[in-house]
Amino acid sequence: MTSLSPSLPIEGQAQGLPVNIEHFRRGMRRLTGAVNLVTTMHRDQPHGLTATAVCSLSGQPPRLLACVNVAGKTFDYILQSRRMGVSVLAYRHLDLAKAFANMVDIGREKRFSDAAWAWTDTGAPVLSDALVAFDCVVDELFVTPSHGVIIGEIKQVRFGPEGDPLLYNEGVFTTLRATP
Ligand SMILES: Cc1cc2nc3c(=O)[nH]c(=O)nc-3n(C[C@H](O)[C@H](O)[C@H](O)COP(=O)(O)O)c2cc1C
Repeated sequence: MTSLSPSLPIEGQAQGLPVNIEHFRRGMRRLTGAVNLVTTMHRDQPHGLTATAVCSLSGQPPRLLACVNVAGKTFDYILQSRRMGVSVLAYRHLDLAKAFANMVDIGREKRFSDAAWAWTDTGAPVLSDALVAFDCVVDELFVTPSHGVIIGEIKQVRFGPEGDPLLYNEGVFTTLRATP
């Protein structure tokens, strides 16, 4: 039987390292994330960013959460509009993910003109051909010094064409590999 005593390391067990920013980043790079666009509409202008910090929260009521940097413009606009669209990206959306992460400099307006958008009931734009898109109203919000944890109540689910998911792992965009 395997002992869980801290004085007897389990074979192959990773060594505990102190938490510093380098170890934090290295660790988080292994936390593979699904890539999404978190969007909103403010004064008739669409805004959005690329985000992996999105997850399901509850089925009843239907809620999800997204963590958005408070230093960015999109956070302010979501705060004001209380509307949030979450478009789950396919690998075919790679260029869009880069544009919404400011990894390529195409300008904020072109971010939206380069793709087809659907206008939801709540008013938040979502990508027309996302794998799936969630139209949300902001339900609750927790603001930490760096990020807002935004809980959205899902008002509508829109299914787009199927495809390989866009993922982010070890600092690169990727997709699922076939299991052996
Ligand atoms: C793969 C990837 C995932 C990201 N995930 C998040 C995230 O979950 N939350 C966030 O606030 N920013 C995230 N970012 C950074 C934003 O996309 C980036 O800072 C964006 O340009 C901010 O736009 P804004 O200034 O319009 O708010 C991510 C970037 C990349 C490349």
